[in-house]
Amino acid sequence: MVAVALIMLMTKMASASMPGSETDLKRRYGTGFPELDRSSCHLVGFGVRAIPSNISSNTQCLKITQTHLAVKHNHQFTEKKHLFQSQILQNNILQSIGESAFAGLPQLSDVWISENLALETIKAFAFSNLPKLTDIEITKSKHLRSIHPDAFRNIVNLRRLTISNTGLRIFPDLSKIHSAAQDFLFDLQDNIHIETVPANAFRGLCTKTITEIRLTRNGIKEVASDAFNGTKMYRLLLSGNEQLTHISPDAFAGSSALVMLDVSHTAVSSLPDSILGGLRRLLARSAYRLKELPVVQRYTKLYVANLTYPSHCCAFKNMHRNRSKWTSLCSHPQAKTIPAFFREHCSNSTSISCSPQPDSFNPCEDIMSPTPLRILIWIISVLALLGNAMVLLVLLGSRSKLTVPRFLMCHLAFADLCMGVYLVVIATVDMLTHGRYYNHAVDWQTGFGCKAAGFFTVFASELSVFTLTAITVERWHTITNAMRLDRKLRLRHACIIMTIGWSFSLLAALLPTVGVSSYGKVSICLPMDVESVVSQVYVVSLLILNILAFFCVCGCYLSIYLTYRKPSSAPAHADTRVAQRMAVLIFTDFVCLAPISFFAISAALKLPLITVSDTKLLLVLFYPINSCSNPFLYAFFTHTFRRDFFLLAARFGLFKTQAQIYRTETSSCQQPTWTSPKSSRVMYSLANTLSLDGKQEF
Ligand SMILES: *[C@@H]1O[C@H](CO)[C@@H](O)[C@H](O)[C@H]1NC(C)=O
Ligand SMILES: *[C@@H]1O[C@H](CO)[C@@H](O)[C@H](O)[C@H]1NC(C)=O
Ligand SMILES: *[C@@H]1O[C@H](CO)[C@@H](O)[C@H](O)[C@H]1NC(C)=O
Ligand SMILES: *[C@@H]1O[C@H](CO)[C@@H](O)[C@H](O)[C@H]1NC(C)=O
Ligand SMILES: *[C@@H]1O[C@H](CO)[C@@H](O)[C@H](O)[C@H]1NC(C)=O
Repeated sequence: MVAVALIMLMTKMASASMPGSETDLKRRYGTGFPELDRSSCHLVGFGVRAIPSNISSNTQCLKITQTHLAVKHNHQFTEKKHLFQSQILQNNILQSIGESAFAGLPQLSDVWISENLALETIKAFAFSNLPKLTDIEITKSKHLRSIHPDAFRNIVNLRRLTISNTGLRIFPDLSKIHSAAQDFLFDLQDNIHIETVPANAFRGLCTKTITEIRLTRNGIKEVASDAFNGTKMYRLLLSGNEQLTHISPDAFAGSSALVMLDVSHTAVSSLPDSILGGLRRLLARSAYRLKELPVVQRYTKLYVANLTYPSHCCAFKNMHRNRSKWTSLCSHPQAKTIPAFFREHCSNSTSISCSPQPDSFNPCEDIMSPTPLRILIWIISVLALLGNAMVLLVLLGSRSKLTVPRFLMCHLAFADLCMGVYLVVIATVDMLTHGRYYNHAVDWQTGFGCKAAGFFTVFASELSVFTLTAITVERWHTITNAMRLDRKLRLRHACIIMTIGWSFSLLAALLPTVGVSSYGKVSICLPMDVESVVSQVYVVSLLILNILAFFCVCGCYLSIYLTYRKPSSAPAHADTRVAQRMAVLIFTDFVCLAPISFFAISAALKLPLITVSDTKLLLVLFYPINSCSNPFLYAFFTHTFRRDFFLLAARFGLFKTQAQIYRTETSSCQQPTWTSPKSSRVMYSLANTLSLDGKQEF
């Protein structure tokens, strides 16, 4: 008893989960009809203008090929009581299959109409009341425009209906077929002019569950609502309809039993919710518009998913489904031999085999996954935004003369502000996609937002590094050439230098948007794509330039330090203090550079030294350090900046007393009290350079 039930279940499950196979079609296109001996087929051949009347009434197979028949009339076969198979092939002037063309052939089982170049219509009742007919195949007739709505009627044993490679413009009417066959296959392929699947398209086709409805590679653009009304089917293949954008949410109303859906190579952007609960296999390869999946809990039975984007598989990774009901049949020794049955009823595993699997660049996680990181990125980005916005405001609002250092500071603050913008963008996107980034990954990483964010960060970091180097070199230049007024760096020169800096940074930031590396590879939109040699060269060049800039900065500070040590007038404790300040500047620069270098090396050499998840940590903790600290190191801690700040504030009626102090200081500064003019200039520059208050220290 148990075994019988098991076998029944077996067959049911097996038929339900059998993947769409191509072998069915091989029969036709490959070896012809294996059921019949080819030589026994009566040939009505070349040049014949009418079907001869003396064909034996015992003929089982009739092959009408390369004739000059114009119309395949009715009652041409009336006496052929035993005709089993009819082939109508390569008749170049055959224009129509006439009314009741195959009437009165009680044994007819198989009709094959192919490569009739002139065939335009199939008239009413062409295939009607044929109780033994199981296979109809109409193929390779580019001019076939119409099939009469009554062409297919009462074909109760029809098991296979194939209409492919025709010029049909409207979906054939299948509603009067009323087949009662098991294992029905409807195959409508390569009809590039069929644009819609209308409502009730398959109602009346088959009273049993249709095994497969194959609508591949047609010109279908739309599946109307109620298209599958009244239809039970296991597999539905819509793949290859490249213009298919819309499957009505109600398309599957009134249908049942669908377990396999293939929407590969289509342009659908959503799947109807109603069928998801029953699906076991979902194929959506190269369905690039399907960027969002419905909530995963709806796929209660899914176990195979072949999708387009790796991120979607993340949705299924941690899915918790209720275990299937364990039945007593599972203890039967044969139960394990039927994978489909076992998986459905006996296995406690809830895993789904999903492909493509997420790669190391796109791990299954949110943009900022650990919560501390999520909080930290907000703090850092707000700090960078506020700090640099304030520096810009004060520098631009100040009424004092625009000097070269001030000019450079403006650029530095602007660059760091851009970095702040980038961090805020990343933090915002992370907040908006919290917990379901997998569904937004595609839109974000391929969209404009990521490109813009990536542009901002590369532009900001390159401009920042460049300006920082320029500032250091300018200071070094000022100090070493303190007495040579003719060598003084003028604003004009600074403008040229910064134009170069901007051009370089813009170029570096634009390259990934035009195909040299790309921003879309990772969720944080850094140019981490090193697939091609050009991309590798790009990443490595950026890296080398940054390292050169770092050494340049180190060299300049060393030189400044040595210059400073020469006048022995300075007190000893100031010496160490200056050294400390230098160390801080170099250290922050290094800390910022190191992670970039680290993952750039790692990426460029294609060595998995560090995972993307770790990169994010570096990104948030170290990468923006310069942007946060620059306002303090180069502005807030300096005397000049504070003076500008209070003077600006005083204009709005704030900090009036402090402003007064700075005003008096400013006038005293103009007559330096230091002994030697050379050393005073040096000290003054140095004080500014190292963010010291000249007054206090020297
Ligand atoms: C039928 O008639 C044609 C001539 O009209 C003849 O050539 C052919 O052999 C006949 N076929 C049979 C099966 O008698
Ligand atoms: C769906 O099919 C049923 C019969 O199977 C019919 O009564 C109903 O009108 C159809 N719905 C639509 C919207 O055509
Ligand atoms: C799992 O089962 C519980 C009760 O048995 C039900 O409340 C819950 O909605 C089910 N979850 C899913 C995803 O079906
Ligand atoms: C699945 O779980 C049921 C009870 O929850 C248990 O009896 C059965 O042995 C388990 N099956 C497997 C394959 O682990
Ligand atoms: C589905 O994915 C598997 C790998 O997970 C692959 O072997 C199989 O060929 C894919 N099937 C289709 C139809 O793409």
